[in-house]
Amino acid sequence: MNNPNDFSRDAWNANAENWDERMGDNGNDFFNILCWPVLASFLDLKPDSHLLDIACGNGLTTRRLVELGAQVTAFDFSSKLIEYAKARTAKYASKITYHVIDATNESQLLSLGEGKFDSALSNMALFDMADIQPLFRALPKLLKPNGTFVFSITHPAFNNASSMHVMEEMDDDGEIKTVYSIKVSRYMTPHHQRGLALRNQPKPQIYFERPLQYYLNMGFQNGFILDRFEERAFPPEIQQMTPLGWGGKFSELPAAIVARMRLVS
Ligand SMILES: C[S@@+](CC[C@H](N)C(=O)[O-])C[C@H]1O[C@@H](n2cnc3c(N)ncnc32)[C@H](O)[C@@H]1O
Repeated sequence: MNNPNDFSRDAWNANAENWDERMGDNGNDFFNILCWPVLASFLDLKPDSHLLDIACGNGLTTRRLVELGAQVTAFDFSSKLIEYAKARTAKYASKITYHVIDATNESQLLSLGEGKFDSALSNMALFDMADIQPLFRALPKLLKPNGTFVFSITHPAFNNASSMHVMEEMDDDGEIKTVYSIKVSRYMTPHHQRGLALRNQPKPQIYFERPLQYYLNMGFQNGFILDRFEERAFPPEIQQMTPLGWGGKFSELPAAIVARMRLVS
């Protein structure tokens, strides 16, 4: 893997058809149960807000934002995913502008327009980016004063590339119990490794793992404060798709976080 960013772009292009087919118009449980309800409440949209949808994939969040009344500029570095996004949101074309842009390139980001956006959104994508410094440097320029950046990521402590899903059985004071837990062996030091965003996808992509403090400090160093934050776990009644996949058996362990950062100047 010579250049992880190039590897990552190639992988997202190779997986674009599979991703589009499986996420469809409505997304999966991670999106609908863990992320979207909180993202939508943190966005606090006003009529005609102009939103930036960062790493928009096949346009899942872009469409939801338009349906909430926003004007949306959306981008992704996968040209294939942008084609799928355009096709899936064709009926909202007058409310959306799409771009193929790499979030690791600050000048490409600034070409989107300075002081233009009320809020920026990134759903489940920051850990897919080889470098998030250019994005955090550009956002204070792209956003209007007091603008917000709302994002969701897999929980860096419980749901990272080293997480092992464990099922054990015990005799608990005369009652046989099954206990589900997560074993984590790497957290503090940023690193990257290949992984699967969706099981059986054509090509592994890369996860860029960082501890929570990395994300928060990146915001603080660039003029943001953290003003909303939630850790998100599946409710107990949600069935897992596979015996040890994320779902209600892990209801005490959060698989994702959703955060809102606000510019203080
Ligand atoms: C897990 S998908 C999420 C897509 C979309 N936000 C959603 O909620 O369905 C991650 C996305 O990040 C994009 N991505 C990864 N690195 C990127 C970069 N450097 N610049 C722009 N997009 C990137 C991928 O192409 C992919 O569409």
